[in-house]
Order: sequence, then C-alpha cells, then structure tokens
Amino acid sequence: MPGYKLAIDGPAGSGKSTISALIAKRMGWTHIDTGAMYRAVTLQAIELGIDLNEESAYRFLESSKIHYDFDKIYINDRDVTEAIRSESVTNHVSLVSSFPYVRKKLVDLQKHAAEYGNIVMDGRDIGTVVLPHANLKVFLTANVEERAKRRYKENLKKGKVTQIEKVIEDISTRDQKDSTRKESPLKMADDAIILDTTHLTIDQVVNKIIELTGQKEKEHGV
Ligand code: DC
Repeated sequence: MPGYKLAIDGPAGSGKSTISALIAKRMGWTHIDTGAMYRAVTLQAIELGIDLNEESAYRFLESSKIHYDFDKIYINDRDVTEAIRSESVTNHVSLVSSFPYVRKKLVDLQKHAAEYGNIVMDGRDIGTVVLPHANLKVFLTANVEERAKRRYKENLKKGKVTQIEKVIEDISTRDQKDSTRKESPLKMADDAIILDTTHLTIDQVVNKIIELTGQKEKEHGV
C-alpha cells in the first residue's frame, strides 16, 4: 500500500470527521469518512422500504454504487451528502452497521479506496479492521457532555434547536450500541495513540495529529 495511511477512530461526536477533513486539506491528502458510507447505506435502505432488521434485505448493495469523493457522498451518482445527516438516518445507522454483510461490503470498498496515495480515514474500526497496518492510528475521545455540546452547536448552526439532555441521551445510546455490537465493535487498536479532545480546540487537535505523523505540512506559514 504506497502512501501514508492515517487511521482516526473514536465515538460519536469526538470530532473525527471535522478533524480528518482539516488534516486532509492541510496535507493535500485524501479524506474518507466511513461513517458517511454507513449512513448512505442506511438512507438507501430507508428509501427502499426494506425490513431494516433483516440482514438478507441488504442484498440491494450488490447493485448499488456508494462512492465518497472530496467530502461528498453519492449513491448511484446522486449526491446525498445532506440527506445522510437526517434524524431518521442517525437513529437507524447503528442497527444497519451491525450486520456482518453490510460491514463486509463497506470494508472491502474502504480497503480498496485506501490502496493508493496518502489517506486519512475516519470511523470506528479503521485501525483495527480496515487499515491494520496504518502508519499512524489515533483514537479520539472526549467526555459525553462535551461531545453532546459540540453536536448541539452543530445543530444550532443548521437552524435546528435540540435539547442538550436529549443529545446526551442519543450519543450515549449510540456509544453503547457501537461498542457492544458483535461485529467489529468500536475498539481502540492496541497500537493507537489516544487523544482526549475534551479541553482542546479543533486546531490544537489537528496540529497535534500532524505533529504525530511526522510529515511536513503542505500549507505555508503554519
Ligand atoms: O461517524 P458517524 O457518526 O457519522 O457514523 C455513523 C454510524 O456508522 C456510527 O453510529 C457507527 C457506524 N460506523 C461504523 O460502524 N464503522 C465505521 N467505520 C464508521 C461508522
């Protein structure tokens, strides 16, 4: 696998995707948000009206094309970048991503996408399953209150008012489901570096990870 492979894992709201996108931009690397891929499958399953509890119903994936490119996600060439952030997708994605068949399909796609070039990939099982030989594995954490606060602010920016208690509850439920599922649960790789971002700004986290890669930044003056 030529190129630098950076694996970033962590729970919901730990800032993985935002931070990975910024690192990719600064370094001129490719970013792949694997959570967006699980969300895209969930969206398509909901739209097709399949029984979400039935693993064999996900066979529709045999003929659908899921594609992540420049921070946009496509299902059969339709841009679903906004649509995958809906509440309905968020509420069902843990269930959908628990099926071995779905995981195998997406992990194969992810491994393939990471074959060439410098890659920052973020998710839950990147350091453990998708890129076990990554050059650097980072596991981001933050306490649940801080993660909920970030999600709450993100929602506000989109004009959506939520109750912070409800966000804490949703994040805790998703943490519980993602880390206790049988198939590739959210788990830190033995050789990952843990970074608690509770009291760090986004820039501090980005700088710290770039420092850890030991690679020179492309951006001037930073
Ligand atoms: O990062 P996110 O919140 O957008 O991810 C959505 C869901 O997808 C998350 O609840 C668990 C699942 N997921 C996964 O199982 N494995 C990954 N590599 C990425 C996400």
